[in-house]
Amino acid sequence: MARRLRIAVLASGRGSNLLALIDARSRGELPVDVVGVFSDRPGCLALSVASEAGIPGFAQRPSGFASRAEFDEAMFNRIEAVQPDLIVCAGYMRLISDAAVSRSRGKLINIHPSLLPKYPGLRTHARALAAGDREHGASVHCVIAKLDAGAVIAQARIPVLEGDRPESLANRLLEREHQLLVQTVKAIADGDLDISGNQPRWHGLPIHTPLSSGPNGHLEEHR
Ligand code: GRF
Repeated sequence: MARRLRIAVLASGRGSNLLALIDARSRGELPVDVVGVFSDRPGCLALSVASEAGIPGFAQRPSGFASRAEFDEAMFNRIEAVQPDLIVCAGYMRLISDAAVSRSRGKLINIHPSLLPKYPGLRTHARALAAGDREHGASVHCVIAKLDAGAVIAQARIPVLEGDRPESLANRLLEREHQLLVQTVKAIADGDLDISGNQPRWHGLPIHTPLSSGPNGHLEEHR
């Protein structure tokens, strides 16, 4: 049997995307092992999610380090120690330094709650509403040292409804984010999606338009 993909997760908050990965794995739908959860916020809910699932967790506070580079060097030393094939930022609220991005090249992805390149950064739901967007969504993208700016791999889309508030939009999107992340990780684990090079590839071909989170549990080419 092929070796299961080893995943490290970086998280700062409630950990619902982490839980989606763990649950999909438990249901037998995701051939991966989550081998460590890493955080910049000791005591965050994501670490409790990890501990309840029996996954080793590690946290270090940014205030204990002189610079972002030093923080990241220590953090990524710990991450590399668990020998991940894939590093998933799931609600990790820190920009990652150049050096750490370089040493993780080809295996670092992030999930972001907007249809990138729209709305990198924070308050994405409020910004989509303020702009009068009819459609909102989430993106999984490769991580580069610039905020939310790496190649977009796949997206999930939802309509903006009459009367939507940032909270309602965020809540409706979250469920789709979970599916999108699980589908993307599964595609990598199955070998359909390759993020190891400069440009992500789908069945061997460069992805020019982000893939779509499909209704049947799989990523699809955007139609
Ligand atoms: C998600 O909306 C994710 O897209 C964003 O931060 C949120 C994290 O949620 N980057 P959770 O911690 O996974 O519940």
